[in-house]
Amino acid sequence: MRKHIVAGNWKMNKTFEQADDLLNEISEKMEAVTLGRDTQVIVCPPFPYLEMTSDYSDESYFAAGAQNVSDQEEGAYTGEVSAAMLQSMDMEYCIVGHSERRAYYHETDEIVARKVNQLLKHEIRPIVCCGEVLEEREANRQFDVVKEQITNGLFHLSAEEFGQVVIAYEPVWAIGTGKTATPEQAQEMHAFIRSLVAEKYGKEVADDTSILYGGSCKPSNAKELFANPDVDGGLIGGASLKADDFLSIAMSF
Ligand code: PGA
Repeated sequence: MRKHIVAGNWKMNKTFEQADDLLNEISEKMEAVTLGRDTQVIVCPPFPYLEMTSDYSDESYFAAGAQNVSDQEEGAYTGEVSAAMLQSMDMEYCIVGHSERRAYYHETDEIVARKVNQLLKHEIRPIVCCGEVLEEREANRQFDVVKEQITNGLFHLSAEEFGQVVIAYEPVWAIGTGKTATPEQAQEMHAFIRSLVAEKYGKEVADDTSILYGGSCKPSNAKELFANPDVDGGLIGGASLKADDFLSIAMSF
């Protein structure tokens, strides 16, 4: 059966010392809380803090993940970080196709597909983001948009490969805006995504796929969102920068 997952996406926040403090606080506080048996907590800091995060995660109950990866294997790609490098640093997860990367760094579905391939080749589980912008929702195009992102980014995979993928539905209008999708809107889209996966790979694979919600998820709304049958957790931005908020979300199942 699929896992509950709460993943913290720190984005481009925290200095080295602040990152150390936050990881330390998360580790210490995780010792004291009881999480559901099937709950996986993941911390995705900026690249320079991956080793530190991996060291903390060895001693704690969370897994380490990256926020991005190159779509190329290795070589002359200045500034890029490869999946092989992430694997050599024991990263278990990596976010791919976040809307900020799609919007500011021109990441297309084709690039997302190549990044996913790189990650799977190096045994790292991709957390693949999808979601519509406000104009698309207002035009009632959200289902078409998400279907296209998922189809083009993921449906070239075999069923076995797809089994490693985590999906994050993040309506772009809800990211960092304080405006959350209603539990009904989240459930409706998550059920739609699961039906797409079932159509392509069968019910068993679909039932095993963790589909996370992201977009202004916080302690005050996590319980309501996670109570939906197809919402298996969250990808948390702003609220993952405070240990108490992040762990309170992780305890919301
Ligand atoms: P937010 O970000 O929780 O700050 O809205 C979520 C995300 O972008 O992953």
